[in-house]
Amino acid sequence: MTAIRRLCILALIFISWALFRNSISARPNPKQDSPVVNPTAADLERGKKTFETTCSTCHGLDGGGAMGPNIQGIPFRLGADAVTSVIKNGMSGGMPSFSGQLDATQIQQVVGYLLTLSHKDTGTIAGDAAKGKDAYQSSGCAGCHIVSGQGSGVGPELTMVGQLRGPGYLRNAVLYPGTDLPQARVFLETGGLLDYMFIHVVTKDGHVFDGTRVSEDSFRIVIKDAAGKFHSFQKSDLRELKKEPGKSVMPSFKGKLSDAQVNDLVAYLASLKGAQ
Ligand code: HEC
Ligand code: HEC
Repeated sequence: MTAIRRLCILALIFISWALFRNSISARPNPKQDSPVVNPTAADLERGKKTFETTCSTCHGLDGGGAMGPNIQGIPFRLGADAVTSVIKNGMSGGMPSFSGQLDATQIQQVVGYLLTLSHKDTGTIAGDAAKGKDAYQSSGCAGCHIVSGQGSGVGPELTMVGQLRGPGYLRNAVLYPGTDLPQARVFLETGGLLDYMFIHVVTKDGHVFDGTRVSEDSFRIVIKDAAGKFHSFQKSDLRELKKEPGKSVMPSFKGKLSDAQVNDLVAYLASLKGAQ
């Protein structure tokens, strides 16, 4: 008798706890439920439009990643609230804040739209990251890049590059250096990366220097050469100053590495998601 009674009391406590819990969390669990409750076709259509005009330059038209990471189906992974907060507040690696540009409804529509993109995650990466690490070490990448404190900083640090960039962008970076420069305005604002514009300089006394731009104003320019040495010039002392978008101090590895090695390298770079 007392056992049944105890059970009844326990059940009552459980039910009232569940009811209470439900009433305080008016929002559904974002990891499981759609963030826009019953988004209409019109909501999704608007979300798609906002995505294409506002986000796709960095995340790719299909959300599969470009200069920014793959975000297909990301509300499933991070939760809708976290994604909403990222869009509102931005992140330190180059993700801008959109709070001034998009209102709450527009943000919810984008989040809803993101859920409709298939979430293949990083399934497009065909290579083997462990072999890619070997290719990285034998190709001299560490002469110009830092991964978890190892290497030198002629080019951007790669410790988190898999978190910041999509696989297609990484492949292009290895095969066609200089084509997709990390976007200067955003990166300077966040203090993350410098501007890697390729600069060719000839001084009045005939010395030639090539390197990436570190800083520039009306009177001076500072560049960093392929060995990581800084050179500062008074513009009035120069015979020639050329910006050469599309060129890079980074050599192209197209033809130097086999297709399989490039796949492995991309898999390795995509696996770099912060200090281990
Ligand atoms: C200027 C380029 C740029 C634009 C435009 C941009 N993003 Fe991003 N986004 C990034 C980068 C780079 C990251 C990597 C994280 C960081 O900044 O530290 C990122 C990260 C994210 C993340 C987190 C991904 C993760 O795995 O943690 C989400 C979600 C996201 N962006 C959504 C959006 C949405 C939605 C839009 C449009 C409203 C947008 N982004 C526009 C560059 C951009
Ligand atoms: C002589 C120096 C140098 C060497 C060697 C070099 N890089 Fe680079 N790398 C750079 C510079 C400078 C950039 C900046 C953008 C540009 O110029 O394309 C860059 C950009 C990159 C980026 C894009 C990073 C971002 O956040 O946008 C990746 C990825 C990359 N390099 C990978 C590699 C790999 C992998 C190797 C070896 C196979 C390598 N690099 C060898 C100098 C170098």
